[in-house]
Amino acid sequence: MVQSRPKLLVTGGAGFIGSHFVDLAVQQGYDVTVLDALTYAGSRTNIASTPHQFVEGDICDAGLVKGLFEKDSFHAVIHFAAESHVDRSILGPGEFIRTNVQGTQTLLEQSLIAWRKSSPVLRESFRFIQISTDEVFGSLGPEGSFTETHPYQPNSPYAASKAAADLIVRAYCKTYGLPCIITHCSNNYGPRQFPEKLIPHMIQSALLNRPLGVYGKGTNVRDWLHVTDHCQGVLLALEKGKPGAHYCFGGGKEMNNLEIVQLLCHLLDESRPRSDGQKHESKIQFVEDRLGHDFRYSIDSSFAQKELGYRAKVRFDSGLKETVQWYLQSKQTQEAEIK
Ligand SMILES: NC(=O)c1ccc[n+]([C@@H]2O[C@H](COP(=O)([O-])OP(=O)(O)OC[C@H]3O[C@@H](n4cnc5c(N)ncnc54)[C@H](O)[C@@H]3O)[C@@H](O)[C@H]2O)c1
Repeated sequence: MVQSRPKLLVTGGAGFIGSHFVDLAVQQGYDVTVLDALTYAGSRTNIASTPHQFVEGDICDAGLVKGLFEKDSFHAVIHFAAESHVDRSILGPGEFIRTNVQGTQTLLEQSLIAWRKSSPVLRESFRFIQISTDEVFGSLGPEGSFTETHPYQPNSPYAASKAAADLIVRAYCKTYGLPCIITHCSNNYGPRQFPEKLIPHMIQSALLNRPLGVYGKGTNVRDWLHVTDHCQGVLLALEKGKPGAHYCFGGGKEMNNLEIVQLLCHLLDESRPRSDGQKHESKIQFVEDRLGHDFRYSIDSSFAQKELGYRAKVRFDSGLKETVQWYLQSKQTQEAEIK
């Protein structure tokens, strides 16, 4: 008898992290259905080379989501879809509440209906994986790191919308027994990130000869995690994680924003020197700080290491170098250069 491959519903699979997860899950023998609204942040090009089913649609559309569960028996929902950019959430929180909170509840409700009707075997193995963020924990001072038990203290509208979604996930797990897991990761980097986020934004600005605007004094610290390491963590949570648990995935590489931008400038000086002979760093400017800007994020991944065998493997220097090369070669960057 031919064993069918377990099916995953991956929301936001055309986005930055979701698309890398689709690649990994298909490599690992899963069948993947991607549900993605293709907002400005999503593109089918990101998953064009990986076989998958694609459904263009909104996670807030209960009828659409219900139809997907009626058509397929999903082994798990891996929920990446979100509005994900802090600056946009400061300018307009409404869409963040709609997608991140209402959308998550819609997915949970339809997952629950399907889960209750499923076979005992599937009921046991089903997982709803909520891809959350370290930003729900708020901001750290110069010392210490977030762990799974850190209290929720979100500061931006984005972080608050993710925190609200996480609490609804928790409620579905505790109240109805839906087997949910919540993962928190630090700042991801790698190919395919939309150029509004720090690393691709700086690369693109440098290539376009624009100022490299760094918030405040550039001292805000982030813990950088390569996107493929994050996706390995999510896969481990799916395969080995316990319902009700939270897992924190960090990259173990803390750097402040100014250091990151300077590093990018050095890499660009090597591979794409400026035509006027100046160093790329000459374009760095300090700009008015982001409202409510969290000072520092840092993740202690030891629980995920112990429980799941999680390890961040990509070395930051080689990961960043390859990321810069990817953007230099990508069509997206070239188109932006021409405009
Ligand atoms: N990028 C990071 O560093 C980071 C860090 C921590 C947590 N996260 C979380 O990881 C997840 C993925 O982040 P990302 O950086 O890949 O985001 P992204 O913005 O690159 O991609 C989001 C994807 O979701 C889709 N989407 C948005 N609204 C939708 C809707 N209503 N219905 C269906 N699809 C919709 C978009 O089209 C896009 O493909 C998010 O939940 C985010 O909160 C990201």
